[in-house]
Amino acid sequence: MNPLNSIADNVKLGKDVKLSKFINLYGCEIGDETKIGAFVEIQKNASVGKRCKISSHTFVCEGVRIEDNVFIGHGVTFINDSYPRATTADGGLQTEADWKVEPTVIRKGASIGSGATILANVIVGENAIVGAGSMVTKDVPANTIVAGNPARVLRSVPDPKKQPAADAPVPFLDLVTPHVELEAELVEVFKKALHSAGFVGGAAVDSFEKAFAEFSDAEHCVAVNSGTDALRFAIMGADIQPGDVIVTVPNTFIATTEAVSQAGAIPEFVDIDEQTYNMSIASLRDYLENQCQRENGRLVSKRSGRAVAAILPVHLYGQMADMDAILDLAEQFGLIVIEDACQAHGAEYFSRKQNRWLKAGSIGRAAAFSFYPGKNLGACGEGGAITTNDPELAKKSRMLRDHGSVRKYYHDVEGYNGRLDAIQAGLLHVKLPHLAGWNASRRDRAADYHRLLDGNKDVLLPHEPSWSRAVYHLFVVRVQEREQLMEHLKQAGIGSAIHYPIPLHLQKAYVSLNYREGDFPVAERIAPQILSLPMFPQLAPEQQERVAAEVAAFVAKSQQKPVLVD
Ligand SMILES: Cc1ncc(COP(=O)(O)O)c(C=O)c1O
Repeated sequence: MNPLNSIADNVKLGKDVKLSKFINLYGCEIGDETKIGAFVEIQKNASVGKRCKISSHTFVCEGVRIEDNVFIGHGVTFINDSYPRATTADGGLQTEADWKVEPTVIRKGASIGSGATILANVIVGENAIVGAGSMVTKDVPANTIVAGNPARVLRSVPDPKKQPAADAPVPFLDLVTPHVELEAELVEVFKKALHSAGFVGGAAVDSFEKAFAEFSDAEHCVAVNSGTDALRFAIMGADIQPGDVIVTVPNTFIATTEAVSQAGAIPEFVDIDEQTYNMSIASLRDYLENQCQRENGRLVSKRSGRAVAAILPVHLYGQMADMDAILDLAEQFGLIVIEDACQAHGAEYFSRKQNRWLKAGSIGRAAAFSFYPGKNLGACGEGGAITTNDPELAKKSRMLRDHGSVRKYYHDVEGYNGRLDAIQAGLLHVKLPHLAGWNASRRDRAADYHRLLDGNKDVLLPHEPSWSRAVYHLFVVRVQEREQLMEHLKQAGIGSAIHYPIPLHLQKAYVSLNYREGDFPVAERIAPQILSLPMFPQLAPEQQERVAAEVAAFVAKSQQKPVLVD
């Protein structure tokens, strides 16, 4: 044993442990083949697994459990007491009996960067990576990379074993991998529900609502059974009267306008912006200033003769609409704003007025999210949520989702059966800690598409204004010969989809609204040109390169004209 080390007799050292110099170990357990650097201290009741590497100047305190194959960088500090004090209430020096050790676990295969601090009562998940210098204040999900102070999820750890073959099919969306990765935790949710028969409401729903409100920077979250119901209840909860007009866009999924109609209101459209494909501020202003008039103090639509009550921007494809401008117009015309955030969980908008980034779902009077399986945060079935900072709207939405009652069998109004079930809430709660990482990965994938396809003038790529941090629910490009490109990709084994082929004002379902071709030129111009390329967090670089190569090969072969933007 090296005389420069202090290794107490009660230390359980495994086989072939390699110790450097100036190491202080007492009352701890070190697994086989672990390597410990200089000036490391490991206290009693701490344990280090097999084949770990603990770099120099690290301090592992009592109560820390480090599992096998963990890497700990230089100068990592662990804390085991959230409220440390030198003295007791009567002024004497604290002894061991006075403090309560809060355990910390570093699961197998994780890596902790140099200079990181891991606060008490934290679990760092399997294979997770903590960036150098981070301050870890809460649990780190397995297979994710976190960094910063406080440490935030950046992305998922890529799995080198999962690299697909060069010519393997590329799905439009891979919904299997994330579920397989989280299988054990997801199955646990089912087991818990089966063993408690807690299927509707209860703690699982309450705690998911709290967590999703926090994620979206909103004060309240009301979990419901779909995005469509979230929109409908938000509209009804905002006291929009039957027959009132809600202004939205024609380039969206029909659920946006279905919810409007089902709430008894009337949808009217304004055109979209040619660069972002979201609500055009110029069109909205034109509608409010020129296509409406004041009657008895209310703004009335000239086309329907109905009072206009609200604006419903859709944060389509994961990118937020220009909310400062929309809120300004809403204020000027006395209208409510409800966000359709069904495709935008975690998307951010830089408010020039507030000089800060705001999250989707935290800005309007209320917002609606969908947890349809393919969404950025998807259930294993149907689900949705309303977020709001308005306690009254939250209360009304809660009543509406549950037959108009606050107390069972006491019905203040007629409501709906629109609750999120407890199993879906539990499953969503397992996935929620991964959402920021998945979104970051989608942003990385979008940046890669830009790198791979930039400069190809025949393919128009999505535009992200400086005030937007999109979460790329979809990656939508524009080309002249969309159907042929789709077919070319299909032949190459690459999935793609169209969101959406016919603008809502031209759908059969809305003939009664009396819109005509030519009413919304931008929405009509892009509809035959837009194509959604494969986009999901686990999309591998090789897959993306193949998609980009096939897109480039098609446009070169077809010699199509560039898409012109006004
Ligand atoms: C923009 C938009 N609004 C509303 C919805 C409705 O959500 P759900 O399918 O959960 O009812 C969706 C989901 O498909 C959507 O994409």
